[in-house]
Amino acid sequence: MNSFLALLALVAVASAGYDGPQFLRDQPRNVQQSYFQIMRNSTLTQQQKNQQLQQWAQTNNLSSQYSSYMQQQQQMEQQMSQNTTQIISRLSTVQTQLETILNNDSQTGAQKQQAIQSLTNQYPQEVPVLFYIRKMSKRQMGMMDD
Ligand SMILES: *[C@@H]1O[C@H](CO)[C@@H](O)[C@H](O)[C@H]1NC(C)=O
Ligand SMILES: *[C@@H]1O[C@H](CO)[C@@H](O)[C@H](O)[C@H]1NC(C)=O
Ligand SMILES: *[C@@H]1O[C@H](CO)[C@@H](O)[C@H](O)[C@H]1NC(C)=O
Ligand SMILES: *[C@@H]1O[C@H](CO)[C@@H](O)[C@H](O)[C@H]1NC(C)=O
Repeated sequence: MNSFLALLALVAVASAGYDGPQFLRDQPRNVQQSYFQIMRNSTLTQQQKNQQLQQWAQTNNLSSQYSSYMQQQQQMEQQMSQNTTQIISRLSTVQTQLETILNNDSQTGAQKQQAIQSLTNQYPQEVPVLFYIRKMSKRQMGMMDD
């Protein structure tokens, strides 16, 4: 199991290719390597990493690129948090709508598929989350996926 997960991780990394910041892409290999050496140093706190990276950026004349990258990251983090809050706030309503569809015995299979599809179009993030939760519940109860 562990080796399978390791393999999956390896495949994910290999297929993702380069996964560092955009501004680092065109930099010489040794500059990239020194960046990743700090990033991957598991003995540093985030604060220490930030300090060292700031120093690294200064040394390599990349201070403005680095600081706008950091700003971008921060904005993305905020947006992710806001999006998560919004998704969670809608889950209850969408759950009701989804269960109404799933429990509607007057529908043909095609009608049910169509209804789920249109709910998914309306709530592209919430519906998959709800199906994921259903799947977890079913697993826990020892039921098979449908
Ligand atoms: C990690 O950071 C510490 C403290 O700066 C340093 O002594 C150590 O050599 C670093 N390790 C690697 C693998 O770069
Ligand atoms: C950084 O810029 C300064 C001034 O333009 C230059 O002297 C120095 O060689 C540059 N360092 C690197 C690592 O490019
Ligand atoms: C947040 O949600 C908006 C709208 O759904 C989407 O365009 C954006 O990519 C999302 N951002 C993140 C960081 O998830
Ligand atoms: C059940 O499905 C039928 C066929 O799509 C639809 O006409 C009916 O309004 C649905 N009932 C509920 C309670 O949504």
